[in-house]
Amino acid sequence: MTPLLFLTGASGMVGTNIRNHCSAKNWNVIAPSSKELDLMDYSAVTRFYENNKPNMVVHCAGKVGGISANLMEPVAFLDKNIVIGRNVIMGARTAGVKNLLNLASTCIYPREAVNPLKENLILEGRLEPTNEGYALAKIVALRLCQYISREDPSFNYKTLIPCNLYGHFDKFDPLNSHLVPAIIQKIHQAKSSKELSVEIWGNGSARREFMFAEDLVEAIFLAMEQILNIPDIMNLGVGNDHSIKKYYQTVASVLDWPGSFTYNTTKPTGMVQKLSDISAQTKWGWQPKTSLEDGIKSTYKYYLEHILK
Ligand SMILES: NC(=O)c1ccc[n+]([C@@H]2O[C@H](COP(=O)([O-])OP(=O)(O)OC[C@H]3O[C@@H](n4cnc5c(N)ncnc54)[C@H](OP(=O)(O)O)[C@@H]3O)[C@@H](O)[C@H]2O)c1
Repeated sequence: MTPLLFLTGASGMVGTNIRNHCSAKNWNVIAPSSKELDLMDYSAVTRFYENNKPNMVVHCAGKVGGISANLMEPVAFLDKNIVIGRNVIMGARTAGVKNLLNLASTCIYPREAVNPLKENLILEGRLEPTNEGYALAKIVALRLCQYISREDPSFNYKTLIPCNLYGHFDKFDPLNSHLVPAIIQKIHQAKSSKELSVEIWGNGSARREFMFAEDLVEAIFLAMEQILNIPDIMNLGVGNDHSIKKYYQTVASVLDWPGSFTYNTTKPTGMVQKLSDISAQTKWGWQPKTSLEDGIKSTYKYYLEHILK
């Protein structure tokens, strides 16, 4: 019988890429929207588990956003993510669901941690203030998974920690967007209105690691199949980072925009560097395939065909 997968956050960027991936055909995917199943509501979540008894949970739901959104709504980022994480994970444990993949993010690493960021650095220092609430909630969910598996090793509750992501189904609106879709939108608009200058927040030197979301999804399907053989927490990254200026330059080149950049150093840029250590992932035997240029080309095509249509 086809195993049952409960996918949370199925309408989001990662969730939609999971549903669209060719390996999804190996699973009977149940993917209720937030209207059908509000993950903030614990009794609804427990009822859902009782009625469906999934073989596997992949937890992608949450309140996710860039620096501006995190700064504007710190209460919601902490509260929603902590409650949703707790409900999905404790609901699964109470219902006796044995396999769960929880998604965290590299923002859970301490602000001053030495790069590349190894999994054992979690909780070894203060968090980056611009996304502290989100990071705290993600750390609670990660620890909850570890405690559950430690108390009863028949529960395989593992956390994957992806680096920053971009790709199809990303958010492009300036209030909620992450860096790469925000750059695509800004440079596309500059090109359309024949502007020759675009502003970068900060001095452009902060470094970030970005993975094409489809690559992450390939790793998630592999991790589902091999859940017994992956570490309890594992970074998923590309293994190299670029300056924010380089991301702007790459998008400008893909879009064939001839302009230049100005720097607004009064704006926050978050951590100086966030590069994940991928030794555990490499030992596991997985590496993402898509180059930055190819990923940006594909995301820009998606933007033209689906966002601007
Ligand atoms: N995007 C990145 O760069 C990135 C990087 C590293 C890690 N991650 C992690 O990857 C996961 C997925 O991220 P994403 O970018 O795909 O996020 P996203 O696009 O913002 O999607 C979030 C999803 O959560 C759902 N959700 C929010 N509140 C809910 C509620 N109360 N009940 C049920 N569903 C609810 C949303 O459903 P509705 O639309 O119906 O509200 C949506 O499907 C998150 O855990 C995130 O931390 C993301």
